[in-house]
Amino acid sequence: MSQPALQMSDVRKVYSMADNEVVALDHATLTVGSDEIIALVGPSGSGKTTLCSIAGGILSATEGSVVVGGEEIGDYGDKELTTFRQNKVGFVFQSVNLVPFLNARENLLVVDELGRREGKPARDRADRLLDELGLADRAKNLPSQLSGGQKQRVAIGRALMNEPELVLFDEPTSALDTELGQQVMELIRSEMKSRGTAAIVVTHDERITSYCDRTVHITDGVLDAG
Ligand SMILES: Nc1ncnc2c1ncn2[C@@H]1O[C@H](COP(=O)(O)OP(=O)(O)OP(=O)(O)O)[C@@H](O)[C@H]1O
Ligand SMILES: [Mg+2]
Repeated sequence: MSQPALQMSDVRKVYSMADNEVVALDHATLTVGSDEIIALVGPSGSGKTTLCSIAGGILSATEGSVVVGGEEIGDYGDKELTTFRQNKVGFVFQSVNLVPFLNARENLLVVDELGRREGKPARDRADRLLDELGLADRAKNLPSQLSGGQKQRVAIGRALMNEPELVLFDEPTSALDTELGQQVMELIRSEMKSRGTAAIVVTHDERITSYCDRTVHITDGVLDAG
């Protein structure tokens, strides 16, 4: 078997405030297989976004080891983390975060401005992804000219542009109605499985977990795989 997409060992994250500290993750140990889709479920404030941010190199852990695709990122500085994010991970946030003045195709291409591809190979990949996501005829639409589900699909395409080892979905369906949410999850599952890419899907919705291979619960920063 190939190496895991993510190996977190004994990770602790403490947010230090002026007059108190918040322990957002405590002894977090989690392995995500190279093509595994994990559902991460827990109440608001339990540490889900914090875990994704650490796995994706947006935040540094206070303690512990974080290995993504065989690369230990625990001691990385800002510059190394930026390169790591561009090459190894993809993010899809609840709020989608498309660039409002760029069309769907251009929103995919921004990933590659600093990434591994440019010019024609990048444009070809963007067009192929848009086609696979059923958006070929919406490539020139601005985000404001797309439906909620279409915007979410553009965000998924953008997260896949750099052929990541691990894609982090932070509540990808919470802004969508039930049926659209299920369609987006089906799409996420088929995109991940056909590429052999690993994913963590954060959700409050137990129905979404049926699209994942395994569910991990988190309560007050403590993981429980049971
Ligand atoms: N930048 C920060 N500074 C201080 N505390 C923070 C910061 N970010 C998050 N926290 C705290 O850390 C804890 C975990 O937050 P986190 O955002 O990871 O939760 P979550 O599970 O994603 O919640 P939600 O479901 O509401 O998105 C919370 O108690 C939160 O208040
Ligand atoms: Mg969150």
